Amino acid sequence: MSTVIETRDLCKTYIVNKQSNNVLQNVNFKVEEGEFVSIMGPSGSGKSTLLYTVSGMDNVTAGSVIFDGEELSSMKEKQLLNLRLIKMGFVFQQMYMMKKLSIIDNIVLPGFQAKIRSREEIRKDAEDLMRKLGIIDEADREITEVSGGQLQRACLCRALINHPKVIFADEPTGALNSKASGEVMDRLLDANRMGTTILMVTHSERVASISDRIIYLVDGNIQGELVLGKKKDDDLSARERQVRNWLQEMGW
Ligand SMILES: Nc1ncnc2c1ncn2[C@@H]1O[C@H](COP(=O)(O)OP(=O)(O)OP(=O)(O)O)[C@@H](O)[C@H]1O
Ligand SMILES: [Mg+2]
Repeated sequence: MSTVIETRDLCKTYIVNKQSNNVLQNVNFKVEEGEFVSIMGPSGSGKSTLLYTVSGMDNVTAGSVIFDGEELSSMKEKQLLNLRLIKMGFVFQQMYMMKKLSIIDNIVLPGFQAKIRSREEIRKDAEDLMRKLGIIDEADREITEVSGGQLQRACLCRALINHPKVIFADEPTGALNSKASGEVMDRLLDANRMGTTILMVTHSERVASISDRIIYLVDGNIQGELVLGKKKDDDLSARERQVRNWLQEMGW
């Protein structure tokens, strides 16, 4: 297995009103190709910041991030944009959908921008994904005309459109009821079974229990790790119990 994400003494400091806030402090971790890793921890512990910095959405204050063998901070802006477009998919809390485009046009956009496959192929792919996620009837709606949950599922379709190497997901089920949440979990698992590496932040024990490994972050430090291994078909409840017990030990 090869390492697809590695951080070396990653630090991130925000300065607000001349006060510095050390949000990430010497974080060292690796994600292997094909792994499904969750990040958990209290609100404000730096989970979203970690996703932003390892995906090159935000720069680091010190230390480094190596993505698929390349150090992000040494890359030119254009190279980084291209890397993000082709090798990464994003499902973030702030969804960054284009307000002037319909749902389906938002989903196909990164596909068209990558210029790797034909527009017909990408459109068909988008429709298949939307059908699987139960939002095909919303294809031509404006993004302001759908629910938060439908928008979140559209976001996942968009993240999958270029068959990225890694999906970064920040609370991908945060706005969803349990049925829609189950669909998103199934699609993430499908993508992972086809080889996509996933790094996901979640507050949900159930959602975290589908991942192979969970990292627990407190005040910008990794406080613990739980290795669950690959999920089989019928073991979700047992895994969820294991996650709950471990989180209690972590002081969740
Ligand atoms: N752009 C920013 N500028 C200044 N401070 C920031 C910025 N983004 C995050 N922070 C601060 O960094 C800390 C960690 O924020 P982060 O969003 O990473 O937490 P989180 O673990 O994702 O929390 P939550 O579970 O609530 O989403 C917080 O104290 C937050 O106020
Ligand atoms: Mg967050």
